Amino acid sequence: MNESQMRSWDRYRDRFVVDVPRGSLSTSVADGADVDWAQEFGRAAPLIVEIGSGAGDSLAPMAAARPDANVVAFEVFEPAVASTLGRLGREGLENVRVVVADGAQGLEKLFDDGSVTELWTFFADPWHKKRHHKRRLVGQDFADVVVAKLAPAGLWRLATDWEDYALWMREHLDAHPGLVNVHDGWAPRLAERPVTKYEAKGLAAGRRVYDLTYRRADAA
Ligand SMILES: C[S@@+](CC[C@H](N)C(=O)[O-])C[C@H]1O[C@@H](n2cnc3c(N)ncnc32)[C@H](O)[C@@H]1O
Repeated sequence: MNESQMRSWDRYRDRFVVDVPRGSLSTSVADGADVDWAQEFGRAAPLIVEIGSGAGDSLAPMAAARPDANVVAFEVFEPAVASTLGRLGREGLENVRVVVADGAQGLEKLFDDGSVTELWTFFADPWHKKRHHKRRLVGQDFADVVVAKLAPAGLWRLATDWEDYALWMREHLDAHPGLVNVHDGWAPRLAERPVTKYEAKGLAAGRRVYDLTYRRADAA
């Protein structure tokens, strides 16, 4: 962490970071871990989850645009979390909490089934090469967890700048019986989703950005 990140960490950690019981790895979530989100936020409200929030470039403006929702962000890289905390503090956002842990495990273990109104995964993992497909966040097993956690008509919003990964998402999620592709193809860019530094790099390198939105199927 640089000095500014350390200052932000010290100043805002207690206000925004939710500690969860760990498994064997420092970023894992213990089996049986439980968080009372209404208590953490001081109110019951629709729950939005972001996995891989980075420096909070999407998280902060998108949470600010949804003051009626409680937004839980998962990020494993502490310097990025510290930058996020600084931003949340400066902007006075009260409806965000951050968990420094693997979001795939967090989603599965820390949320009741049917309780998440939206899940955001924007440029969330680096495994765009075909040979790394086993490490990809998006796949059949994770989609099963997402379907279980989404509330009725809940939405999963995704974005990636890797065509191969985008096509992989379509292949797995279009075929999932618990999900409906809201746009029957690529989604229009969500107006509230800003161009993050990470996305700008992909665009500068000539890559196209693919957005997707899935809804929990009624029968799920
Ligand atoms: C490429 S960055 C994009 C960050 C942000 N979404 C944006 O658009 O600027 C991906 C981030 O996701 C985090 N990440 C990847 N997989 C994760 C997981 N399973 N749980 C929590 N964080 C994760 C990485 O540490 C990294 O900071």
